[in-house]
Amino acid sequence: MPSTAILGLQWGDEGKGKLVDQLCSEHDVCVRFQGGGNAGHTVYPDGRKVVLHHLPTGVLHKQCLNILGPGMVIDPHKLLEEIDELAKLGYKLAGRLVLSDRASITTAIHTALDAAREGDSNKIGTTKRGIGPTYADRYDRIAVRACDLLDKQSLREALERALAVRGPQLGSGAPKAEELVEPLLKAGSKLRPYISDSALVLHEALKEERRVLYEGAQGALLDVAYGTYPFVTSSHTLANGITAGVGLQSGVERVIGVTKAYCTRVGEGPFPTELGKAESEVLREKGGEFGATTGRPRRVGHIDLFALRYVCKLSGVTELAVTKLDVLSNMGELKLGIGYEGHKDPGLPADIRKFAALKPVYKAMPGWAENLGKARKGSDLPKAARAYLRFIEEFVGVKIGVISVGPERESAFAVKGAPKG
Ligand code: IMP
Repeated sequence: MPSTAILGLQWGDEGKGKLVDQLCSEHDVCVRFQGGGNAGHTVYPDGRKVVLHHLPTGVLHKQCLNILGPGMVIDPHKLLEEIDELAKLGYKLAGRLVLSDRASITTAIHTALDAAREGDSNKIGTTKRGIGPTYADRYDRIAVRACDLLDKQSLREALERALAVRGPQLGSGAPKAEELVEPLLKAGSKLRPYISDSALVLHEALKEERRVLYEGAQGALLDVAYGTYPFVTSSHTLANGITAGVGLQSGVERVIGVTKAYCTRVGEGPFPTELGKAESEVLREKGGEFGATTGRPRRVGHIDLFALRYVCKLSGVTELAVTKLDVLSNMGELKLGIGYEGHKDPGLPADIRKFAALKPVYKAMPGWAENLGKARKGSDLPKAARAYLRFIEEFVGVKIGVISVGPERESAFAVKGAPKG
């Protein structure tokens, strides 16, 4: 049975949540494989706004089994809050949520380290959810893992191991192992029914030919290896993150890459096609561009097709989903980044100083004044919007499979390539 992945192609916030939500109804299993509570996937089931941070969007679909893979980092207290919130809305997760026993655990040590790092002049503009320090502990082999939450001695030993290294970095503000043990054990006892070897569960599901959806968080340009390092998140957000992040050779046939019709970024770091302050404000307000996790105003800019083409190659994207096309109505002439002055390389520079110096070259295209909110098929779109989409498709070299024109479930519709005419 073919598996599907949905991945962000920019700096996150591409509107993946709603598309995953739509696709969940055709899938039996929904899997998160990287990141943690830094994600903020906003969905509107039955018109009610739900923001998911750790949990896969499949939790909103009663037939879906949901997996938090070993590639994730989990704040158990925050995860329990999310589970409780959903229970209040009528979504029960008993028997449909699996948390990998190998997932790394974010504790007060990690959120304190994240906050301390963000206070210095080298700040990344993180979500302050402790993501970077938790992944750092994993690779330094001093992480607390989900399995440790189930055994007092293992938990204490894991915390002491972490504090031996991280305690001195935090100085007098470092939490004590004994302060952390009881609350974490208590969280562990609540999470116990969900914790197991999720790779085996997924293996069984694949053997039974159940339809699996891999839900990416953040975006390609935040990938820890291929993004705008060091202004990135600490996980592998490209398709290559899936295999290690679920613990299996997972074979994904359909890779849907999601891009906004323009571009946004939160946090620090270069953004070649960023708009000036006044223009930014207009688009930010029209697009409601404020972070789902932190509420921070997002930086906004023109779509960067050169970067898009590059990351589509890296992730083997088989189809594009273009979101928030409606936001571009009444914006006058539109610009699309098609390269950078003097930059001959087909890829993006690894060196952040070179990346920051890129000066975009634009293709200008006529805009449109029509409101697109009611469009439900390609032919409902004005000619200029269709031409805009066609240019994206031709430049990037990947067919458009989905167009989204509003926040409601039904405002994303499938197409077989950019609409003609
Ligand atoms: P961290 O993932 O909290 O360590 O943050 C690292 C960078 O990734 C910062 O620029 C964040 O703003 C960005 N980031 C992390 N998660 C998201 C997300 O879900 N959407 C957009 N940006 C994100």
